[in-house]
Amino acid sequence: MLSNAQTRDISSLLHPYTNLVKLRETGPVVFERGKGVRIYDERGKDYIEALAGLWCTALGWGEETLVEAAAEQMRKLPYSHIFAGRSHEPAIALAEKLKEIAPFPVGKVFFANSGSEANDTQIKLFWYASNAAGKPQRKKIISRVKGYHGVTIASASLTALPANHKSFDLPLDFVRFADCPHFYHHAESGESEAQFSQRMAENLDALIEKTGAETIAAMIAEPVQGAGGVILPPEGYFQAVSRVLARHGIALIDDEVITGFGRTGNRFGCETFGFEPTTMTIAKALSSAYLPISAVLISPEMCELIEAESGRVGTFGHGYTYSGHPVAAAVALKTLEIYEERDIVGHVRRVAPRFLARLEQLREHPLVGEAKGVGLLGGVEILADKKAKRNFEPAKAVGPAIAKMIEEEGVLTRAMMGDRFGLCPPLIITEAEIDELFDRFERGLNRGLDWVKREQLIWQ
Ligand SMILES: Cc1ncc(COP(=O)(O)O)c(C=O)c1O
Repeated sequence: MLSNAQTRDISSLLHPYTNLVKLRETGPVVFERGKGVRIYDERGKDYIEALAGLWCTALGWGEETLVEAAAEQMRKLPYSHIFAGRSHEPAIALAEKLKEIAPFPVGKVFFANSGSEANDTQIKLFWYASNAAGKPQRKKIISRVKGYHGVTIASASLTALPANHKSFDLPLDFVRFADCPHFYHHAESGESEAQFSQRMAENLDALIEKTGAETIAAMIAEPVQGAGGVILPPEGYFQAVSRVLARHGIALIDDEVITGFGRTGNRFGCETFGFEPTTMTIAKALSSAYLPISAVLISPEMCELIEAESGRVGTFGHGYTYSGHPVAAAVALKTLEIYEERDIVGHVRRVAPRFLARLEQLREHPLVGEAKGVGLLGGVEILADKKAKRNFEPAKAVGPAIAKMIEEEGVLTRAMMGDRFGLCPPLIITEAEIDELFDRFERGLNRGLDWVKREQLIWQ
């Protein structure tokens, strides 16, 4: 029986990333409140949020200091914009703070409201800067298969997942796709991680040559491919790729929307994987998702080009009504303060070994092929045939069915393409909560195993 809220929902809400036909029968799970790493549905059932919402609620639920920061700013100056020479303290202070903690030289910071908008902005900034530099042919962007960079028309073009293109007439023509560096599936027999990385870099080099290096402005990459299935870069990957890009004078856009602010055990993913970006996109944990805010961190050289071009055009014709929104900026500033005060990066480093040990133990489960992670970010892939690394037929939707069983056991995760579950709990999670998360997760997996056996979907 659907509840009142579920019935009202299915007749009024268009849900993102949902099979809308199926939803009519099942109705949504309606959540009411949260505390720490748990959230509660309208029936009072508790769930551990193993994906921190959408990889974002780093400080978990019920963080009163953020509520207070928002209320204080709302009372003082709930809105003012930063167009046409206006400004306000929260946006200035946040830009300064981000410059200070950035792991590469940053000239200026541009604010938007979502990861998609920030990545759209990245593309526009590179196009603008290419024109400013007198290189108008440098407009193409390289992305990677299974990369996720958002859903606006341009950022969805960078996203390389079928559902984001199919029936939307995407991608647009400015994008070229490099390989997905998934060692587990794509390594050749006997190839080491370092050799695989080298091959990925050589393929990238060939793609650049074929496309024409002089027509390419940048490559965009997530340190860990998140929504594509939590795919970790193989050893030496970013070093090999960075060498190729540098040789061709192509910039590297680091999409840290998931990996920023401690997720991988360092403040930024590029520090964990040892590479230096040209620009960076951040969002999600920037405000622990308490309010929408994202940012683009821009190199000093690019800032100079953009400023000069704005002088020639007469204005820098880009910006959102809510760019640098004072309340969102105040909450983001407070979030960054909490990360430092509570040494969240140190906490991640302390609890990550437990998280990674429990994650890697899952490889012994008859359903699980790969189970791999870094910091508090992990991916678990279930397979129809472990030995042959063969996936379930996508039409059987085994991943979503098992994600539902895991949900019924009290853990929220999502089955992504290729039946991979993402694990990305709030960064405040304790060791005891990590154990509870994996105990529940395993119970769901065991139910899933019984089911695939009954349905004869698994090869043993
Ligand atoms: C790496 C990455 N970039 C960009 C985005 C898009 O962010 P948003 O959903 O805020 O538009 C996401 C969202 O999950 C992401 O994971």
